[in-house]
Amino acid sequence: SLPLIIDCDPGVDDAVMLMMALASDALDVRAITTVAGNVPLRLTSRNARMMCQLMNRGDVPVYAGCPGPILRAPVTAEDFHGESGIAGLDPFEPDMPLEDGHAVTFLVETLKAAAPGEYTLVVTGPMTNIAAALTLDPSIAEGISRLVLMAGADSAGGNITPFSEFNVFADPHAAAIVFRSGIPATVMSLDVTHTVRAELPRIERLKAVPTERAAIMVQLLEAGNELEGRWKEGRKSPMHDPSTVAFLLAPHLFEAKATTVSVVTDEGDRFGQTCLAEAPGGPHDWVTTADADGFFDLIASLMERA
Ligand code: BDR
Ligand code: CA
Repeated sequence: SLPLIIDCDPGVDDAVMLMMALASDALDVRAITTVAGNVPLRLTSRNARMMCQLMNRGDVPVYAGCPGPILRAPVTAEDFHGESGIAGLDPFEPDMPLEDGHAVTFLVETLKAAAPGEYTLVVTGPMTNIAAALTLDPSIAEGISRLVLMAGADSAGGNITPFSEFNVFADPHAAAIVFRSGIPATVMSLDVTHTVRAELPRIERLKAVPTERAAIMVQLLEAGNELEGRWKEGRKSPMHDPSTVAFLLAPHLFEAKATTVSVVTDEGDRFGQTCLAEAPGGPHDWVTTADADGFFDLIASLMERA
């Protein structure tokens, strides 16, 4: 199965993504690294361990990373995720400890020791940890075959400002470093994640799955919908972060175009906006469409396993 490192900021939708990844035999989750984002680092680090424990995956090491962005002032997103970061679940202090050592040190050491292209990296928070690791040692790029990022927006427009998506806006300088590295990346932007939402019939299907984990998944999706509905009545929550793992497990559900992504790092209206190069081609596969029902079939089949 595919050796994977997941860098995240759970986050309701990060939690859904972690459940999918930890349930799959096709993915070998070697470690989870956490970053400040939706909520402060202490909570994202706790939440990642909560999800491991709920999935009976206390074997997966969790490393805490950067407590804030490189340059800009920190921003969080409790309005979309709740004060705990994972609305829908009762918070608890996990038995499994955080690993000693910084996530960025872990990333540098692991990727330096890796065979060429050994690792795939899923990144579903601000890109601070990856950018810091690439800055410490650019040669770590050789150990990475592909990044799968939840980041950015083009035609969909932003979700935190009219132009910017949260993960990029929360650390635009980090995102600029990661895109500029030229490492092949699949980019799940709002253009695609806004087309895959937790509509009620999809949740109903999951309710019919008789496992504990399906019930937890339903709690997360319903809490996500409740928060989303506060912004616009009846609107259901988009599957941002879960699209990364769905892509790895079922790439046929998606279509993409090759491009080169850059990031606006000048402060102003467009701070944190992602821009696609006019000339086609480049290292970034910008995903444009998803089969939303197929996506939820995948979630249901992963949650069927006890
Ligand atoms: C992204 O922002 C966060 O709030 C979500 O977890 C997701 O990673 C969507 O813009
Ligand atoms: Ca996230």
